[in-house]
Amino acid sequence: MKMLKVKSLFVNYGAVEALKNISLHIKEKEFVALIGSNGAGKTSLLNAIMGIVKPKDGEVIFNDKNITGFPPERKVKEKIALVLEGRRVFANMTVLENIEVGAFTSDNKNFIKRLKFIYDIFPVLKERSWQPAGMLSGGEQQMLAIARALISEPKLLLMDEPSMGLAPLVIKDVYEKLLILKETGLTIFLVEQNAAAALKYADRGYVLENGKIVLQGKSKELLEDNEIKRAYLGKEYKEKWER
Ligand SMILES: Nc1ncnc2c1ncn2[C@@H]1O[C@H](COP(=O)(O)OP(=O)(O)O)[C@@H](O)[C@H]1O
Ligand SMILES: [Mg+2]
Repeated sequence: MKMLKVKSLFVNYGAVEALKNISLHIKEKEFVALIGSNGAGKTSLLNAIMGIVKPKDGEVIFNDKNITGFPPERKVKEKIALVLEGRRVFANMTVLENIEVGAFTSDNKNFIKRLKFIYDIFPVLKERSWQPAGMLSGGEQQMLAIARALISEPKLLLMDEPSMGLAPLVIKDVYEKLLILKETGLTIFLVEQNAAAALKYADRGYVLENGKIVLQGKSKELLEDNEIKRAYLGKEYKEKWER
């Protein structure tokens, strides 16, 4: 079943046309990546899906319900959560307090159960629950940002460049957690400049250039596409990821 459908979506900032007629879909329990270089419109797309940015035209359909105009809190109630670009954990608050922030907009009755689920997947967050988030490494902060999104029990997790600023081995750790989350039934849609990482783990991918989707397919097929290799994978690709 198609869980998320984006239909002919347009986003403008004044005269800047950031997204031009974007259509895509995510099936339940799929892990889909959208790749694109800096300025392609990746964040605009997630923000439009989440209701942070208002689309000029087009529709966002979630489980057959038109949720286009819904503000972010209502999207959370519909079981969609977004992990923002750059993680943005609250450095002076503890790990646990950061997770509690994510529970703020959702109904709290499952908090303890949910926290246990999160700590089982990210034991490092349990070990460090009383430490200020600012003391965590970049990879741990990314896991905390994911945990903060997961506490609202999303069915669809949106992520904005989870690999940004992280070393390859840490990126691998983060993506392996995403595969575990997928196994628990979570549907994942992420956007990345790091095509090599994203396409290694995702089932399917879209390529966004200048606000338009120019290519889509199974991750394996995209990784073999010469144009993608040239434009997004670069020469280090083989060294880092193809082993
Ligand atoms: N708040 C904004 N005001 C004006 N232009 C913006 C704003 N946010 C993004 N843009 C422009 O929209 C385009 C897409 O940006 P963005 O969605 O952030 O791309 P990406 O996340 O792929 O780097 C870029 O040209 C960017 O400069
Ligand atoms: Mg961005």
